[in-house]
Amino acid sequence: MPVPVILDCDPGHDDAFNILLAAAHPSVDLLAITTVAGNQTLEKTTLNARRVCEAAGIRGVPIAAGAAGPLHARPQGVLVAEHIHGSSGLDGPSWDAWESGPGAGFGHGQPTVPQDPRDALTLLRETLTGHPAPVTLVPTGPLTNIATLLLAHPRLTDRIERIVLMGGSVERGNTTPAAEFNILCDPEAADIVFGCGVPVTMFGLNATHQVRATPEVLGRLTALGTPLSRLCVELLTYFASTYREVYGFDAPPLHDPLTVAHLIDPSLVSLVRAAVRVELTGTWTRGATVVDLDGVTGLPPNAEVGMDVDADGFWDLIVEAVRVLGSA
Ligand code: RIB
Ligand code: CA
Repeated sequence: MPVPVILDCDPGHDDAFNILLAAAHPSVDLLAITTVAGNQTLEKTTLNARRVCEAAGIRGVPIAAGAAGPLHARPQGVLVAEHIHGSSGLDGPSWDAWESGPGAGFGHGQPTVPQDPRDALTLLRETLTGHPAPVTLVPTGPLTNIATLLLAHPRLTDRIERIVLMGGSVERGNTTPAAEFNILCDPEAADIVFGCGVPVTMFGLNATHQVRATPEVLGRLTALGTPLSRLCVELLTYFASTYREVYGFDAPPLHDPLTVAHLIDPSLVSLVRAAVRVELTGTWTRGATVVDLDGVTGLPPNAEVGMDVDADGFWDLIVEAVRVLGSA
């Protein structure tokens, strides 16, 4: 039976590939997509989710917009990652070519894939209550929407199978020395999610940095020779340029699809159970995920944490997803 999934995301180059993977693979039933501010503003991440579905021919998956910022407003304003994902949040391709809605081709087109009139909280609640079995939530952006759902509808936890998230790290961060971007954007939300009692699987930077989009990967995508594969290469080429400029990486880590890849093939990433806490008050460490790998705190484990990755197996799934959607 395919795993029923809701993606909660901030597209974002790597979020985009997670949408492709979830839509393409037969062992995943993509029920809905909700968006959150993160890599870019909510307006842009929502438009980007629609753009990705338009380009990949993904239809009938409702896309609803959620939180435009964290639970507790940051004095400095909403944190975005324009230096990595660009001003659109999905820089690289010429999206005009993919827009067939009104104004398409003139730089202000819109995808024909609509935005759902409901907000993310309503879509999450209605999808969870309406589905015959518990649903897996896959957040790959700041955790504001998921925390808001848990706060507003605590009894819905029995409709959530598990939460498989990209965020945090067992080591250092990427936005501060201690904090990874998704968690830092809304540490209070992350604290609520890790403490909610629903089984949580965390894929942090220590795992996601093992899946780098190398020139060999881009070559495999280019060889597919479809408009969608060309779009994916344009996305990864841009993503590579910013990761090289900002972090000095030789190839960009495609963080988010490790979540859905794990659902498809749990053997791809080794997991350890550990107590995970989110630092909320540290002057230099706010937003850090403190992962007790050695059990020294005596706290009971509250998450599975991704550790060692079969990168070849991961990329086989990504290339196959692009092939399937691009040839549909
Ligand atoms: O730190 C990487 C994470 O932050 C990824 O999910 C990326 O898309 C951004 O949301
Ligand atoms: Ca993301």
